[in-house]
Amino acid sequence: MRVVHAASFGISAMAAIIAIAGHDWTEANAAGKESYAEAVVDAAGNLGVPRDYRTTYQFLGSWAIAGDAGRGSKELHAVLASPGAIDAYRKDGQFPDGTVLVKEVFQTTTQEMTTGTVSRAQTLKGWFVMVKDSVGHHPGHALWGDGWGWAWFDASNPSKTTSTDYKSDCLSCHVPAQASDWVYVDGYPPLRR
Ligand code: HEC
Repeated sequence: MRVVHAASFGISAMAAIIAIAGHDWTEANAAGKESYAEAVVDAAGNLGVPRDYRTTYQFLGSWAIAGDAGRGSKELHAVLASPGAIDAYRKDGQFPDGTVLVKEVFQTTTQEMTTGTVSRAQTLKGWFVMVKDSVGHHPGHALWGDGWGWAWFDASNPSKTTSTDYKSDCLSCHVPAQASDWVYVDGYPPLRR
């Protein structure tokens, strides 16, 4: 009798622990990557640009936006992911909860070099940040929904977004990538298996 009682307590205690974990970034992120999301999101759901992403994040890919006239590119976009996201995506084609994506937007300068006409990053205009949230941690928050937190930051203020509503500021432009969880995965060679 005692043994049975102890076993049933064990199961319900475990269920309680799992239920608690379900409200945390840790659930889908067994490798402890929740810290990357926690580093950029406060309890109220306000987003920020991660510190040190240039040395700690993993490079996904880049985009060159053609100049309106003449040769070269007018903007360069560099996209990085929080550590662990690439490995996880290559396994099951999903970005784990808590994944942080950063897109740097640079104005360019274009010059003749020994390789040809070349545009390179010159002035940082700011960052787009997305944080994966399949659970819906911030219901009713205008910058959270459709599985992500969304925000733009001017270069002058990486801790305060100027975005007010992801549906009007972001989502319509990401519709072509809706089938791949709103992310333009075709531009990111490390995600290919
Ligand atoms: C004018 C259309 C447009 C708007 C507005 C827009 N995006 Fe994007 N976004 C794109 C396109 C297209 C790409 C990929 C190609 C590129 O960078 O030019 C992209 C790429 C990204 C990336 C890199 C990961 C990915 O999805 O491929 C992030 C992060 C991102 N956008 C976040 C945001 C956020 C957050 C907002 C709103 C604050 C936003 N975007 C608004 C069109 C847009």
